[in-house]
Parts: sequence; C-alpha cells; structure tokens
Amino acid sequence: MKYLTNEKLTIVGAGGMIGSNMAQTALMLGLTPNICLYDIYEPGVHGVAEEIYHCAFEGANVTWTVDPEVAFKGAKYIISSGGAPRKEGMTREDLLKGNCQIAAEFGDLIEKYCPDVKHVVVIFNPADVTALTALIHSGLKPNQLTSLAALDSTRLQEALAAEFGVQQCKVTGAYTYGGHGEAMAVFASKALIDGTPLAEKKLSEERWAEIKHATVQGGSNIIKLRGRSSFQSPAYQAVKMIEAAMGGAKFTWPAGCYVNAPELGYKNVMMAMPTVIDADGVHYTAPSGTAAEMADLKASYEHLCKMREEIVSLGIVPPVSEWKKENPNL
Ligand SMILES: NC(=O)c1ccc[n+]([C@@H]2O[C@H](COP(=O)([O-])OP(=O)(O)OC[C@H]3O[C@@H](n4cnc5c(N)ncnc54)[C@H](O)[C@@H]3O)[C@@H](O)[C@H]2O)c1
Repeated sequence: MKYLTNEKLTIVGAGGMIGSNMAQTALMLGLTPNICLYDIYEPGVHGVAEEIYHCAFEGANVTWTVDPEVAFKGAKYIISSGGAPRKEGMTREDLLKGNCQIAAEFGDLIEKYCPDVKHVVVIFNPADVTALTALIHSGLKPNQLTSLAALDSTRLQEALAAEFGVQQCKVTGAYTYGGHGEAMAVFASKALIDGTPLAEKKLSEERWAEIKHATVQGGSNIIKLRGRSSFQSPAYQAVKMIEAAMGGAKFTWPAGCYVNAPELGYKNVMMAMPTVIDADGVHYTAPSGTAAEMADLKASYEHLCKMREEIVSLGIVPPVSEWKKENPNL
C-alpha cells in the first residue's frame, strides 16, 4: 500500500460518528499510515480503534488515546469533529457556547503541543465560529486552518441535479458562501446544468425558493431521515480537505477560511469563500454574483459577526482589537 505521506494525522473526536468514518476514509484513500485517534470518551475511541484494526489495513500504524499530549505531540495534520452534534429541532447556532469552549481548548492544545502542525480542519458546529475560536487560540497562520463548509454546496448540486434529472456531477458552478448555518448565501447565477446556464432552464421563482430551502435545510433533513446528524459526507469531505493539504488532489469545494479583507467588506471572520486547498494551505478569491446574491452574502457575513461578538462577550475569545496578542499571525 502506497501512502501519500508518513506524517502523523490526528483525528479528534475519533470515538464519534464522523471521527470513526474519517479514520476509515483516511486509510482507504491511503493518506498516511500514522493515524492517532483521540477522544475524551475512552470506550468510544477504543472501540473505533479495534474496528480499524479488524479492517487490517496494510501497513497501517493506528494508535488511540484519551491523553491530549500523546494525541497532539508531533501531529502534522489534525481534523477535529470533537464536539456535540445537533439533535432534531436544534440549529447549529444552538451549539455555540459549549462547542466554542471546546474549540478554545483545542486551539490551546495545538499551541502547546504541535505549533508546527501543517494544516487543521475543524468540523464541529457552528463550524465557522468554532474554527475562528481555534485559529485565535492556536497561533496558527490563517492559511493553515479551515472549516468544513462544502456540504452546503454538494447539497445544492444534488438538489439541482434532481430537479433537472441529470447526473449530479453534470451540475457545475453552483455554490454557497458565507456562514455554514441557516444564513448561508446561495450562489447559482453561474450554474450550468449539463452545460446549459441555469437561467435558460426556466425554473419558476417558487421552485427555486424551494431548492434554496432544501439546500439550507439539507443537514436538518438528514437528522429527520436518520434520527441523527450527518456523518458520512462530512467525514469524506473533511478527509479530502486534508488530502489536499498533504499535497494530494486539490480541494476545490468552498472551504471556510479566515477573511480579513476590508476592501471586500468582510473583516475578521471565518466564512466559506471560493477557495482552493493545496500543499500551501487554503487560498481564497473574491466571490462574485448578482446583486441579490451579494446582498445575501452580506447578510450571512453580518450574522457571523453577531456570533463572533457573542463569543467575545462570553470571554471565549478577546475583542478583535486584542487578537494579535493571542495570535500574532492575525
Ligand atoms: N461542518 C459540517 O458540515 C458538519 C456536518 C455534520 C456534523 N457536524 C458537526 O460535527 C460534530 C461531530 O458530529 P458527530 O456526529 O461525529 O458527533 P458524535 O457525538 O458522534 O461524536 C463527537 C465525538 O466528539 C467527542 N468529544 C466531545 N468533546 C470532545 C473534546 N473536547 N475533545 C475530544 N473529543 C471530544 C465525543 O466524545 C464524541 O465521541 C458536531 O458538532 C456536528 O454538529 C458538522
């Protein structure tokens, strides 16, 4: 079995549903043989490790621990789904306080034990705010830490494919930007349906509103269908993000990244942008769209600013003016 790298990948929250799927996916895709599974819940992470051992992946060198020092020391890549998931009726924002406290501790562990980590992907919700918290606390450079935001775009792609009866991969150019929450901004003015612009497909206003709603509610729909928060798609997409950071195929679905671009009107937030992840980390470009799409993005950005102010007022991160003291790279 040929692996992309031998460097250590640590999966945080490995005892949970996304974490356990990430361990398996990372080995199936041949990312690295050296994977450390970490969780605070010992039976969970022990059980996942046993299952992985029973897969008998060739050349794998998987360890598990509940000791953060063992987990984080020497880690060159980290993916974290280690936080509470949503239950039916909850929004991602309902998780804000508890999961942002976990994110602050997560960032502190990175700073203490693996300041030379190369890339970190944060999954636990509300992902843009937990990722921002982790970035401030970790001391990492903004291009080294991303949040999982791709599923909103893959859900939009799927909804458009179903509407027009085409294969999912034949829908291109349809993305969501801004927050990974109910206030996400849907950009479809450049979408192509099997090569034909969406604008020429005569989609009624009403139907388009329903598709947008289905996209925004895509995560809640999985909770309704399966009785729990989605785990296969986040595991796969997050591992693909790390694969790109390891120098594998570039990751081109939107990722949540740190944006401080007053010239674009967005300051000091993590949000989904048109991005590429490669061995140098994440790179973003300015989103462009119709006036209505840009207005939705502005509203999504403002919602993110409100959540940021909430974690400042809870004392989880300092006010923006003091971020540089905590992380000189910001
Ligand atoms: N960004 C996205 O697109 C996306 C999609 C789906 C789910 N999520 C989020 O991912 C998170 C995980 O979901 P799940 O279904 O795997 O949940 P889960 O409950 O199955 O697993 C979470 C695991 O994290 C562990 N954990 C909790 N606190 C920890 C800490 N401080 N350190 C280490 N581990 C810790 C728990 O013990 C548990 O094993 C949730 O917050 C969920 O909302 C994000």
